[in-house]
Amino acid sequence: MTHPNLNRLKSEANAALTAFLNRWPADKGDGLYAPVHYLMQLGGKRLRAVLALSAAEAEGHSLSVAMPAALGVELFHNFTLMHDDIMDEAPKRRGQDTVHTKWDESTAILSGDAMYTLAHIAFLELNAEALPRALELFNQTALEVCLGQQSDMAFETRQDVSVEEYLEMIRLKTSVLVAASLGVGAIAAGATPERTAIWVEMGEQLGLAFQMQDDLLDTFGGEAVGKQIGGDILADKKTFLRLYTAENGGEEARRALASWDGNRSDATGKIEAIRSAMQSAGAEVAAKQLMNEQVDRAMACMDRLQLSDEHREWFGFLAGLVTQRKS
Ligand code: IPE
Ligand code: IPE
Ligand code: MG
Ligand code: MG
Ligand code: MG
Repeated sequence: MTHPNLNRLKSEANAALTAFLNRWPADKGDGLYAPVHYLMQLGGKRLRAVLALSAAEAEGHSLSVAMPAALGVELFHNFTLMHDDIMDEAPKRRGQDTVHTKWDESTAILSGDAMYTLAHIAFLELNAEALPRALELFNQTALEVCLGQQSDMAFETRQDVSVEEYLEMIRLKTSVLVAASLGVGAIAAGATPERTAIWVEMGEQLGLAFQMQDDLLDTFGGEAVGKQIGGDILADKKTFLRLYTAENGGEEARRALASWDGNRSDATGKIEAIRSAMQSAGAEVAAKQLMNEQVDRAMACMDRLQLSDEHREWFGFLAGLVTQRKS
């Protein structure tokens, strides 16, 4: 899936990220900054940066007003990935070894902390009017992401998680940052608090759909995902797919889920058994339906923002990217 805006905004963001990170060169050996450069150079969609730049453009400004915020949200996102991979015991990220696998956990913790600080340093280059508003949204978002991650981990050992609790957990761990990316981009372009709130609402709905697709790819995706397929199943993550299967899958599916709970002894056997229980329960179809409703709600925000046709087309493309992506 390609679009001229995607290439343009992504390459602007990548050029600015490279220039910014060059101020902290990779140190020799098992350093602090080498893992930062390693993870950033592995690629990634740069979705959060692209969203921040897109909101600024839709608010009638040049993307450069929002670049410090775009770098800030993208660095923050990559920091969360570095720590998330420790928490999830994930071996692969973007098709390569995760930082804690290539180095060790202490290195990934500290390099992650450094990236979180770099995100703040990036924000400081925003214009003076936007800076306090943007930082307020960003810091509130960072705390919410921690809350979401905490629930995500706690749910691994709980059997009574509801779909409502799942939706709140993904809102916190993922959506709020997608929302804040649009929000800080709009703030950088001088949007009113009222318009900024609509951007944030749009991002929250897009972010929910984004995490639902992430969960679908984790279970049903191909090699392009670049992560260990079945990692969520292995860790007993309470995804929508799993909750739907427990609720609608019948006796056999429930027995499969219960018998593998907390058991990692045969990874391939566990992943195959639970994936097929999910498939026969129709969880994939149900997840896609919910995802489409979230996208519809996001798109309704464009009406309230009275975006031009050109920007509507672009955000429509981005919504399609969120739900149809293969990585
Ligand atoms: C992965 O994010 C983590 C989630 C919030 C689901 P992305 O899928 O945006 O990861 P990259 O940056 O493109 O690799
Ligand atoms: C990601 O959730 C949320 C954050 C990183 C905050 P996941 O654990 O599903 O992300 P991936 O699948 O490892 O990228
Ligand atoms: Mg996780
Ligand atoms: Mg993870
Ligand atoms: Mg995931």
